[in-house]
Amino acid sequence: MVTAVDMTPLDTAAIRAQFPILEREVHGNPLVYLDNAATTQKPQAVIDSLTSYYSTMNANIHRGLHTLAEEATAAYEGVRQQVAELIGAASHREVVFTRNTTESLNLLAYTLGARLQPGDEIVLSAAEHHSNLVPWQLVAQRTGAVLRFIELNDDQQIDVDTARAAITPNARIVSVVHISNVLGSITPIAEISQMAREVGASMIVDAAQSAPHIAVDVDDLGVDFMAFSSHKMLGPTGVGVLWGRRELLADLDPFLGGGEMISVVTREESSWAALPHKFEAGTPNIADVIAFGAAIQFLNAVGMDAVAAHDADLTAYAVERMSRLEGLDIYGPADPSERSAVVAFNYRDIHSHDIATILDRSGIAVRAGHHCAQPLMRTLGVPATARASFYLYNERSEVDALIDGLLEAGERFGFDRGA
Ligand SMILES: Cc1ncc(COP(=O)(O)O)c(C=O)c1O
Repeated sequence: MVTAVDMTPLDTAAIRAQFPILEREVHGNPLVYLDNAATTQKPQAVIDSLTSYYSTMNANIHRGLHTLAEEATAAYEGVRQQVAELIGAASHREVVFTRNTTESLNLLAYTLGARLQPGDEIVLSAAEHHSNLVPWQLVAQRTGAVLRFIELNDDQQIDVDTARAAITPNARIVSVVHISNVLGSITPIAEISQMAREVGASMIVDAAQSAPHIAVDVDDLGVDFMAFSSHKMLGPTGVGVLWGRRELLADLDPFLGGGEMISVVTREESSWAALPHKFEAGTPNIADVIAFGAAIQFLNAVGMDAVAAHDADLTAYAVERMSRLEGLDIYGPADPSERSAVVAFNYRDIHSHDIATILDRSGIAVRAGHHCAQPLMRTLGVPATARASFYLYNERSEVDALIDGLLEAGERFGFDRGA
């Protein structure tokens, strides 16, 4: 159960108390977990949900007529409804469970992409995660479609003008990241959706970094499809969501074939189950989907607007403190109010892997590398960056620990503590 706590401002002490892992130490120091863009930690309610499912309810869903199967089916389908409500979907039938954002995007690339003709354009952005790039490269190779890219503006953002320059009447698919996992920049999706609609293209949003951090409403965004992952929003790994407008999903061919996704099967051919089951072949990840429901309940109890406000406050504090460090370059929009809870940086020409390794000795977890965005690294002109990313359980004192850790890393490489 989620304990009700006063959320304005966010009561991080009460929230932290519900995340057992935050009590652990790393190399003799309290864990400072700043790798939330990679995956988030899990509250006790999610951990309990997994144990409770396997201890009391475990059964295969949909087919069974016995009590356990009925209970597990109701719990699993209940989470579909929760997801639909979270994102403002018109129906639970528009919510397909996949393994992760990557699989959701591959599903679209495989099914929508199959319809493309040589010369049709697939519009992506310069800031895509590989999961919203590589599947479309495969489609382009198969069909002769052409990839086009929305470039970043001078403030390292995708904006309406750069989007307009890339979306031509030949665009058939526009698939863009909502919040960049490197730049933290927030894409004006509603405006880009409008441009896609004007040229008759399907509009897809990669919401892997937005659904966990801000309230997302598929109607407000005006998109046709949206993809995101449970594990980046307090839920278990192994569960992704593909949302699509009902008539568009209904019109697509299946992605994977097998049990559960059929209506009638003969030796020669098959017909498909109703939505969303047409896209959920085989036994799904029942326990993790149900535990994802506990994560959504937790986020709802806090309130997505409160999560967003907390992230914004912490990010502004981090950017302000980090930008005072001599020799530290931050990537992404200059104005912290235009970014989400991700701060990618390089410090004093120290390789980001060294930064991450030194910080880890102080118990501070950050990510280093290309963040599955190699083309973006090339655009930024760097081989790699370090990245601190925040969530609802992080506190200002952890940003302070990060700053201390960076100064210490600098010292090890012979720089004065200076700033
Ligand atoms: C923007 C973005 N898109 C897609 C993904 C892929 O998510 P997953 O690994 O859960 O499929 C990530 C993961 O980091 C991401 O940050």
